[in-house]
Amino acid sequence: LPPPTTSLIYNIFILYISPTLAYLIATLGIDGMREKLVGRGLYGMDIGKRGTEREKVKVPEALGVVTGISHVVVLSLTTYLCRTSTPPTLPILLSSLTSILFMLFLGFTDDVLEWGWTAKLVLPTVSSIPLVAVYDGSTSIVAPRFLHPLFWSSPNQVLTPLSEALSSLGMTVYPGSRIGLIDVGWVYGVYMSLLSIFTSNCINIYAGINGLEVGQSVVISCCILLHNAHEIAAGVESAAQHWFSAMVLLPFLTSSLALLKRNWYPAECFVGDTYCYSAGVVFAVVGIHGHFSKTLLLFFIPQIMNFLLSLPQLLKVVPCPRHRLPRYNKDTGKMEPSMYSLPNGGGGINLTLINVWLKLWGPRKEERLTLELLALQVAMSAVGMCIRYKGLGRGLIF
Ligand code: UD1
Ligand code: MG
Repeated sequence: LPPPTTSLIYNIFILYISPTLAYLIATLGIDGMREKLVGRGLYGMDIGKRGTEREKVKVPEALGVVTGISHVVVLSLTTYLCRTSTPPTLPILLSSLTSILFMLFLGFTDDVLEWGWTAKLVLPTVSSIPLVAVYDGSTSIVAPRFLHPLFWSSPNQVLTPLSEALSSLGMTVYPGSRIGLIDVGWVYGVYMSLLSIFTSNCINIYAGINGLEVGQSVVISCCILLHNAHEIAAGVESAAQHWFSAMVLLPFLTSSLALLKRNWYPAECFVGDTYCYSAGVVFAVVGIHGHFSKTLLLFFIPQIMNFLLSLPQLLKVVPCPRHRLPRYNKDTGKMEPSMYSLPNGGGGINLTLINVWLKLWGPRKEERLTLELLALQVAMSAVGMCIRYKGLGRGLIF
């Protein structure tokens, strides 16, 4: 299937020039900015190296601002090429740029000012408004089979009072014996906003060991790109939307690889909330405008597990220390689960997937821990792809 435009320059730019340019700008920018950030007081101490020589090294923080800039520069150049594309991608690209820029700004201010939780939830919602505003895809969802009786009675498919109530709220129920649809209308907009709050925060809280924030984003990007390639090759109706997704993701992936090189163990820089938030919104952008926002979540299984595990601490049912990252044991050179303590002297391990992994498989070196968690990300994405392509779980849900 041909890309959205037959212009050769456009295609060469999307597939080769834009990813290369993003990588080069990010590489030069990271090396050029490291000293500057430390000089301006934007640095952190590597908590995972306590008790070693590296403990005292000032590690530049918020390098995600550089990858963000390289991504935005390349996407801005892309807008010029998109001005004549069919179908028109320019408004969608511009709204995506607005959201990405807003999240970059939010993340950078968070690195400098350390926002509270309210801001971390409200600001991503605001940043998603331009996305929702130009969304031109379906707002219908497939009703899971076991819920059908709630919406219509079989066999003559008469709507239930619940469906009548939904229709007075602006939603429409389309009964079906095998597949039933509910056009949820404006609720879909709310879902898209929630998605972008989730994707940005879930990366930020699955963090704390060298290479994990960028590493997981690299794996997720590769999985989405594979999904895009598969759908384009299969000639699906939304092939143009998958091209759009690849256009946004390819330069994001290469600039992230440039960052990963410096953030890998032993980290020479930290990515900051700037990177985590902007990565999250990039995924929300491609999921929403690529029309695969539900499939997208199948690539976030470890992040969903980490979020669910974290809920008691996020909701303050259990104390939540400022840092929940694992504890470095300088005698063994390995990472161990970190603990929270209760006022009465009790306590437990901090509720994160990283700590649970260490509890399950025992203490291990930081680099190995990152590699294992990234392997888990790949394995879980493979499960996600099986659910998506092989229809695992079909019958129960659809
Ligand atoms: C989130 C997590 C927090 C975790 C932190 C680590 C929640 C609710 N918050 O907080 O538990 O400790 O991320 O990123 O789950 N750091 C390292 N090694 C690394 C990465 C970071 O030591 O590989 C330390 C550095 O001191 C760095 C700091 O973490 O300066 C950055 O933390 P920040 O991103 O500000 O923490 P939060 O996102 O607020
Ligand atoms: Mg963070």
